[in-house]
Formats: sequence, C-alpha cells, structure tokens
Amino acid sequence: MSDRYYITTPIYYPNGEPHLGHFYTTVCADVAARFNRLSGRDTWMLTGTDWHGIKMVKSAEEKNTTPTALATKHDEAFKAAWKQFGIRFDDYISTHEPRHMNAVAEIVNRMLASGDIYLGSYEGWYDEGQEEFITETEAKSADYKSVVSGRPLVRYKEPTYFFRLTRYVKPVYNAIERDELMIRPISRKNEVLSKLRGWDADLSISRSTLTWGVPMPNDPSHVLYVWIDALSNYITALGYASSDESRFQQYWPADVHLIGKEILWFHAVYWPAMLMSLGVALPKLLYAHGWWTAEGKKMSKTMGNFIDLQRLQSYGEKFSIDAVRYYVLRAAPFGNDLDFSDADFLKSYAELQKVLGNCLNRVGKMLGRYRAGVIGAVSQSLEPIDEQLMQQIDALPAALEKAYAQMDLQQVVLLPIELARATNGYVDSTEPFKLAKDPAKAARLDTVLHLAIQAIRRALVGLLPVMPGKAKEGLLQLGDDVTGKTGAALWAHLPLGHKIAEPQPLFPQIDPPSQS
Ligand code: MSP
Repeated sequence: MSDRYYITTPIYYPNGEPHLGHFYTTVCADVAARFNRLSGRDTWMLTGTDWHGIKMVKSAEEKNTTPTALATKHDEAFKAAWKQFGIRFDDYISTHEPRHMNAVAEIVNRMLASGDIYLGSYEGWYDEGQEEFITETEAKSADYKSVVSGRPLVRYKEPTYFFRLTRYVKPVYNAIERDELMIRPISRKNEVLSKLRGWDADLSISRSTLTWGVPMPNDPSHVLYVWIDALSNYITALGYASSDESRFQQYWPADVHLIGKEILWFHAVYWPAMLMSLGVALPKLLYAHGWWTAEGKKMSKTMGNFIDLQRLQSYGEKFSIDAVRYYVLRAAPFGNDLDFSDADFLKSYAELQKVLGNCLNRVGKMLGRYRAGVIGAVSQSLEPIDEQLMQQIDALPAALEKAYAQMDLQQVVLLPIELARATNGYVDSTEPFKLAKDPAKAARLDTVLHLAIQAIRRALVGLLPVMPGKAKEGLLQLGDDVTGKTGAALWAHLPLGHKIAEPQPLFPQIDPPSQS
C-alpha cells in the first residue's frame, strides 16, 4: 500500500435529517481513515452534501421552503451529527459552494472540448427520488415505480445535452473486469458487468425544465444533471480544475469510494466514463455496502421505525458512542444487508463488557495485586500455550492491514476481539491466581501476566479506529498514552518494568433500555 490514503463517503441529500444509513457509511469511512492515519499514512477523508436536483426542489416545495433554506438547515444537522459521533473528516463539501460549482463548470467545458457532449432530446422514465434515468425494460418490470421508494416514475420529454457514454462503455467494462477499478463485493461487480454488457445509450446530462443546479456553461438555459454535478465532488473538493490543484495531485486517485449498494451504477459507470473523458485516473476501489432494516422491517417514516440519529444518540448517552460504532461494524459481514435490533445491540455491548472490558480488568487487577502493577520478564522456556498466544499477538497488525486493505470492516472488529477472547482463555488455562500462591512459580507468573498484558494491549490498539475513546481509555489504564503515536511505535510492546495504572470497568453494567 502507498503512503497516502484518500477515502470518500457519498455526499448526502440535505433534504431531511441524517439517519442510521448515512451514519453507517460515514462511520465506516471514518474507521478506515483512522486506521490509515494511525498506520502513519497521509490520509484524507471527504464527506459532504448534495444540494441540487429535482429531489431537493420537490422536498423544499413539500415543506414550504426554498432548496437553499432546506439544505442549509440539514447541512448543519449532518455536520453536528458527525461531530457527535466522533467522525473526523478532513474536508466537507456542499455542492452549492462556489469552489465546487466553478470547478464543475470547468469540468463540463473540458468534456465539451473532448467532443463528448451533444444536444438532443430525451424521452423516457425518471425516478425523482433517486435522480435516476430508468430504461423502459426496467420501468416495466418495476411496474413503473421506483424500486427504492415505491413512488411512481415520472415521464420526461425535453431537450437535453447528452454525454457520449457509449464511447466509454467498453473501456469502463474492461477497467472493471480487470479490477483496474475494483468493485466489491464481487457479486456487485458482476451485476454491473452484466448490466453494462447490453448498454447502448448515451446519458442525458442536462435539464431545461429545472433551474436549481449548476448552469450548463455552454447554455445557461439548462442545468447540469445532478449526478454529474455530485460525482464531481470527489475531485473538486481536492481542487481539481481550480487555480490550486496541489491537493488533487497529492491524493487522487481515491483509494476507496464507500457507497450504499443503490448508488453503485452511477459510481461504477458514469463516474469512470466522466474521468476517462477528462483524462483523469480512475479510483482504485468502489465498495458498495448493504442496507439496514430495523427489527427485520424496511425503515420507513410512515411505519415510524426509522432509526434516526436521536435514537442512536440515546444509545450513545447510555452505552457510549463507541459502543454504537462497534455495534454497526460488528452487525454483519461488510457488504451484506444488516438489521438493527435492540437485542443485537445489547448482545454486542455484552461482548464488549465480557470479552474486552473483563479481560482488561482482570489482567490489570492481577498485575496490580501480584506485581504492584509492574510488568516482569518473559521466561526463556515457553509453553505451547504461550507460543500460541504470542503468535496471535504478532499476527494482529498484518491481519488488520489486510482486512482494511480489502475493506473487510467486520473483520477489523472481530480480529482484535478474538485476541481479547483468546487472552481470556489463556488466563483461564494458566491460572495466575494459583501460580501466585506458589513462590516457586514466580517466573511463570511473570511470563503469564506479561503476555496477557501485551495481548490485551494489542487488542485495544487494534480497536482504536473503531472505538477511539474507549480504546484510548483502556490503554491509559495500562499506563500507555498513545497520543500522537503511529505505525511501529503504536504497536510496540510495553517495556519491562512498565507500570500500569489502576484498572476501572471500561464498559459499566447498564440496565437494558425500557421497552416503551
Ligand atoms: N446524493 C446521493 C449520493 C451522491 S454521491 C456522489 C445520495 N444521497 S442520499 O442522501 O440518498 O444518501 C445515500 C447513501 O446513504 C447511501 O449510499 C448509503 O450510503 C446511505 N443509506 C441511506 N439509507 C440507507 C440504509 N437504509 N442502509 C444503509 N445505508 C443507506 O444518494
């Protein structure tokens, strides 16, 4: 892997409050960014909001307000939410900012210069909730309704500028097939390839019946199709097509665009085609994650089962924000659909308590009681059980590096937790409390406590990206302030003679939420 890392989230429509779905993508990106930062890479994480398009106009109309007022209000809500949930982004872009709108106009000019844009007229179906053109075949098989929202598709017939997508179908297909543009999970890659195989249409990229958006630089009576505008954010935020492209030079191509599965087509086809038209390198990996349901049912406002951020915040207040972050990553193999349930949340909190918290607490207490908190030496003659634990301790950094490189974001939680579980098992088997009673076993006791402390420490370091607060607190209990440490310095074992601090329960016992 290179020494720099650029990860993005989708830019969200600021037409409503952020919810679990938005939170999930953003927290996943934050965790991956944190890991790479802690590994010493020059890391950039981008998120933001997508202001334009018919969806924003209609939402504003429904709420008796203007798109600007609506977007401004929710933009603030998104920013505040990310702050509350410990998300550390490096830049936040709103597509109505001049830095974006100016660069997008320049992008269109460059695509015009490549001869990739021409005037024509579009007649066909449009999903206004998804801002997506739907082919006749797709429309028919979905009974002329949106497959995402269930709302009726709208018939459009208007003059429009087209982008010569057909010119790029073959090269895009090849880039995906050869993993030059990686799409994961692999099943999603195959879906895209199979849909691309029969693709023979250019893309309508302007609307003459809409005024809310980026005006077409060659014809201001049209505004640019919102997806062309929105996808550009990944490079405009870096200064592409501006007077200062240094950040673009530094970070592009993106290592990962993290997205939900419903917006893969835009990212997998339109975006690389645009980049090819501009002569810009393709991103390395598109990862499409699954969708959340709530207690087994599709989340919907009408059913009142929407997991909003207030709900997550209330869990956060009670159990800690870090426990919420842990839960969402733990919930399913990355890429699969997921289900939010109180019972599962409590199970995952109990895991943190019993496996991680308990391990830290008991090992810390024993070292305090038997060795005044000071780490002793490991003896020369190791038992197989020691070697087994040492192997697991040694394997963690590389295993995590691999899991992060593949965006296996459930594994990044499970690997450290399994090390903590193994440490608990090690303590159960080696019985330090018995060794402590026998002065002849003093050296053995030193070895056992030493290895157990290093193991739980590594588990905590491994969890720093996921639970920045709790992992840091746990490490402080081990007398280890990791502030500012990266790479090898972060993974390095505690030295002989190091004195740990006073153990405290990391995940206190909490009454389950009342069933109201
Ligand atoms: N504005 C576009 C994206 C443009 S990116 C250049 C958009 N915005 S959105 O507000 O609808 O957010 C979509 C994203 O929210 C999804 O890709 C996904 O990351 C997240 N989710 C929204 N609902 C979700 C679930 N129920 N479950 C998981 N994530 C989902 O599309």
